[in-house]
Amino acid sequence: MTEQKASNITWHTASIQRADREKLLSQKGMVLWFTGLPASGKSTLAHAVEAKLYEAGHLTYVLDGDNIRHGLNKNLGFSPQDREENIRRIGEVAKLFADAGLITMTAFISPYRADREQARRLLQPDQFIEVYVKVSLSVAEQRDPKGLYKKARTGEIKEFTGISAPYEEPLNPELVVDTDILDLERSTALVLDLLKRRALSV
Ligand code: ADX
Repeated sequence: MTEQKASNITWHTASIQRADREKLLSQKGMVLWFTGLPASGKSTLAHAVEAKLYEAGHLTYVLDGDNIRHGLNKNLGFSPQDREENIRRIGEVAKLFADAGLITMTAFISPYRADREQARRLLQPDQFIEVYVKVSLSVAEQRDPKGLYKKARTGEIKEFTGISAPYEEPLNPELVVDTDILDLERSTALVLDLLKRRALSV
């Protein structure tokens, strides 16, 4: 648990609430939490889902690991502690975005179960959808779009997820998308189906 450092702070209750913004946007603010090995297809899938939702008139945002690590989380590396802090911050940011009424998607490896569960606990049960973007290590390694698996194998990159750092598979994700066998179109359709069943609209 992260320590609360500041004292003498008071929560201010806003007069405009999430429900008001959701009405305005005709959608439910929620978090779709994509997790999986490097090169599993998390970002690609999140952006494909976003494109479909945008076409249908929804307000969305994708928080992407590589991008966020250029800004908000530029002071974090890949030790277990830094990954925990990375995910803690993203959980909080995603909560704010969902509270703003956005369909928020996060695309982070988020390798530790406990960190993902902490993010889940920040939201209402019906507001958090964990999507396990599943891939076998051999397929991810064949894809290797950034050449990082190769560098991890030679030891040039340390603590690389799947090679020299752990990935803890989700035990009860709302959805599993197996990108070994599903193409992008079918993977996107699976996520959109789930969203529809979850009453996307208010
Ligand atoms: S997480 O583990 O803390 O959730 P995050 O999703 O933010 O990771 O960042 C992963 C991205 O950082 C990968 O897509 C990859 O491009 C890059 N990266 C660089 N070094 C590593 C490493 N040691 N392990 C995993 N990803 C790494």
